[in-house]
Amino acid sequence: MEKTLQAEEQQLNDQFNQAQDALEDIKQNQDQEESKTTQKVKYYQWDEEMTDQANSILLQETNQMTQEMYAKLEKDAKRNWDIFYKNNKTNFYKDRHYIKFEFSELSDRIQSIPEEDKTTKYRLLDVGCGVGNGFYPLYREFQGRLLINCCDFSPRAVNFVKEHELYKADEINAHVVDLVNDEIPFEKETADFGIMLFVLSAISPENFKSVAQKIYDQMKDDGILYFRDYGKYDLAQLRLAQRGNQKLKDNFYIRSDKTRAYYFTTDEVKEIFENAGFTQVENQYHYRLIENRKDQKKMHRVWIQAKFQRISKLDNQSEDNKQIEQYDKF
Ligand SMILES: C[S@@+](CC[C@H](N)C(=O)[O-])C[C@H]1O[C@@H](n2cnc3c(N)ncnc32)[C@H](O)[C@@H]1O
Repeated sequence: MEKTLQAEEQQLNDQFNQAQDALEDIKQNQDQEESKTTQKVKYYQWDEEMTDQANSILLQETNQMTQEMYAKLEKDAKRNWDIFYKNNKTNFYKDRHYIKFEFSELSDRIQSIPEEDKTTKYRLLDVGCGVGNGFYPLYREFQGRLLINCCDFSPRAVNFVKEHELYKADEINAHVVDLVNDEIPFEKETADFGIMLFVLSAISPENFKSVAQKIYDQMKDDGILYFRDYGKYDLAQLRLAQRGNQKLKDNFYIRSDKTRAYYFTTDEVKEIFENAGFTQVENQYHYRLIENRKDQKKMHRVWIQAKFQRISKLDNQSEDNKQIEQYDKF
């Protein structure tokens, strides 16, 4: 009898701890920013002392998942994200209104279309689009000027995209696609712009390069990809490290809801996208200070914002090559 009670108590304790972890994850994972028009964005200065402190936390992590567990999480990645959307529906991420400010290449190009031009439209690709918090604010802002290709491997997320009040089947091409295991089904070299928001971090590091290559193949010459994701030493990474038993590989962790998160350096991001053929336009850390309104707790977030362009092959050639090509014409 006593044993049964003890077991039940243990089970309740485990459930309570799991629920606490999940809540903590939710707080940590809120990577959205408020619109710049409604909230003043606060930044902080990263310094060497912070690097030392963060490294001392990361060095304490000794436990790493077994290979079997790693393989299982890879196999179940799609299912686990689909369960995430079953639980959270469209309520987890906020609309990312900041993109129209940060991705000025897209906004400026659309805004420069003369009013009398009624036909010009640009195609935006959103990979790992979730429920559409990235592209819908842009689609709403630039009505009639944007066509969307978007995909996610969670069928529930793609359904939410299709249930959105703004969804139009002839302008928004939404598909269930696993960026690791499937080909992207849209016509190649058709995207003028791309967005990839907090998606690469959910993919295992051994697949980063092949995914970047698939995105490159979607972009038109001169097309620009806007990338945002978690940076190394982000508070969420340090919390996962301190919690223990969450580490999959260096800088790669499993959250309590079984979704995975990688924390990048800018050098890694540069290497991944340049290797696919892109040219780097911007690549920097964003050190955002988030203050919890309730308890005034300060959270030091680290994100990376980067832009990569698919430069036309001709422009990429050296002047010598261009000249040789000119002579070849005669
Ligand atoms: C952190 S959420 C971001 C969602 C969306 N980009 C946004 O900004 O709101 C990461 C998304 O990546 C998707 N994802 C993760 N791995 C993927 C893969 N291999 N193929 C396609 N989508 C993937 C998940 O289903 C999830 O919707």
